Amino acid sequence: MTTERVPFIAGNWKMNLDHQQAIALVQKLAWTLRDANHDYSKTEVAVFPPFTDLRTVQTLIDAEKFELTLGAQDLSQHDSGAYTGDVSGAFLRKLEVKYVIIGHSERRMYHAENDELIQAKVAAAFRHDLVPVICVGETLEELEEQGQSFIPVQQIKAALANHSQVGEFIVAYEPVWAIGTGQVATPEQAAEVAVAIRTAIAQTLTPEIAEKTRILYGGSVKAANVAGFLKSPEVDGVLVGGASLQVEEFSGIARFLKHLAL
Ligand code: 13P
Repeated sequence: MTTERVPFIAGNWKMNLDHQQAIALVQKLAWTLRDANHDYSKTEVAVFPPFTDLRTVQTLIDAEKFELTLGAQDLSQHDSGAYTGDVSGAFLRKLEVKYVIIGHSERRMYHAENDELIQAKVAAAFRHDLVPVICVGETLEELEEQGQSFIPVQQIKAALANHSQVGEFIVAYEPVWAIGTGQVATPEQAAEVAVAIRTAIAQTLTPEIAEKTRILYGGSVKAANVAGFLKSPEVDGVLVGGASLQVEEFSGIARFLKHLAL
């Protein structure tokens, strides 16, 4: 982390927790962070529940004046129309959703999302004033054949190419081999890929944009290993899967500054 970019701690719940379970988790998370005097201006904390929980979580955040921010896990590349099952960015924005994950490896894998579709979804996010959290990352096979930065760099360049309108965005480097496996990347690996991604952003857009863009690491992040990643000035936060479903663990991650001797 650097002091210029506010660290971003994001919990991607994936397909877990219904809207009632969501209330319990969000309340407990906000109270735990409140008890710990969490300073949200120093570390932003966001949750990414399933679509069916969004309205409930938004209402709760609003009513209780929680400082947590809200994200969705996907959106349609289209704005409206005959696209059964899809969810428009316009609808998300109406729910005060600020962030949207795009191109998660699970969607690339199980929904055959390719670079072209991901680019269109990023455009949709920009159109609707949402901040895309663009996920990139290599499989174990790609890591062995091409090294660790090649695929993430290719994917971010594709996602950011040819936009008529560019707003704020976040990049999450999530090596596929580290997701849900307990096989975590080293802080050095994460920092090295973050540098390569920042360079790619500077080339595709501008160095100024690259400088202010937050780049996260994701893949088997826990309270016990988070500080290692955030010690690097190149890594600006984490995208957390499994550990975001446990309040103690996730609030421990959000409070990573405690583990850093700054
Ligand atoms: P895990 O933290 O469960 O490895 O998942 C990472 C992830 O995919 C977050 O988007």
